Amino acid sequence: MNKASNTKRRQLVVGNWKMNGNRCVNAELLAKVMTSWQGEHRAEVVVCPPYPYLQHTHELIAGSSILLGAQNVSEANDGAYTGEVSAQMLADLHCKFVIIGHNERRRMQGETDEQVAQKFMAAQRANLIPILCVGESLEQRENGQHLTVIGQQLQSVFSHTGRAVFAQAVVAYEPVWAVGTGKTATPQQAHEVHHFIREQLGEVAEVVRILYGGSVKAHNAEQLFALTDIDGALLGGASLDAEEFLKICKAAD
Ligand code: PGA
Repeated sequence: MNKASNTKRRQLVVGNWKMNGNRCVNAELLAKVMTSWQGEHRAEVVVCPPYPYLQHTHELIAGSSILLGAQNVSEANDGAYTGEVSAQMLADLHCKFVIIGHNERRRMQGETDEQVAQKFMAAQRANLIPILCVGESLEQRENGQHLTVIGQQLQSVFSHTGRAVFAQAVVAYEPVWAVGTGKTATPQQAHEVHHFIREQLGEVAEVVRILYGGSVKAHNAEQLFALTDIDGALLGGASLDAEEFLKICKAAD
């Protein structure tokens, strides 16, 4: 029995496929996952394919308990924004979740805290559940600034929305130095930040799911999930391997 049995929060495992896959590979991956993940589970499982595969993925997971999410969204509702995809479109394509402010977008696409806040609000307007990613760089951690940085990242959203709306949102702590590097935060490091994030959430703290992300694999998932303030994981690499993904889903279940 893991601690899921004594918390109100349902464990959540989100697979962020990033810019990987094609229709054939996605179908094979999901077929394998669905063979072992049938019926109702205590843990909720979400896959986030690239935009062009949302509809196809929706068809592949039809009838299963796996839910659909997107990796990004525009802050605008509609209009002349070439190449952008709105939250309404994602909802129309059966998405329930959307990842907001992933560190790869903050770093590579220069997304600012303000833009991330706008995207968060756009997701909410379309009744999508935003998965707000926060996390510090290696330099910020080494300078002892990690909590300050994460506090600011949260505050920039709170300043627009307040905290109550987080009852319908998810937060993911992803230390930048742990994403795709094979380095994972130690249980102590993860515990410190998750506990801090929960404190920041004020009145809704107890209902918000806070995921850990950054090189979560089958071999370290159980240890992370055993921590009181960790309610699941946001996975990159491990979500592309059916066996690995399933082991992590089962560890959360
Ligand atoms: P990783 O990626 O599991 O490959 O480290 C996590 C993420 O980017 O969400």
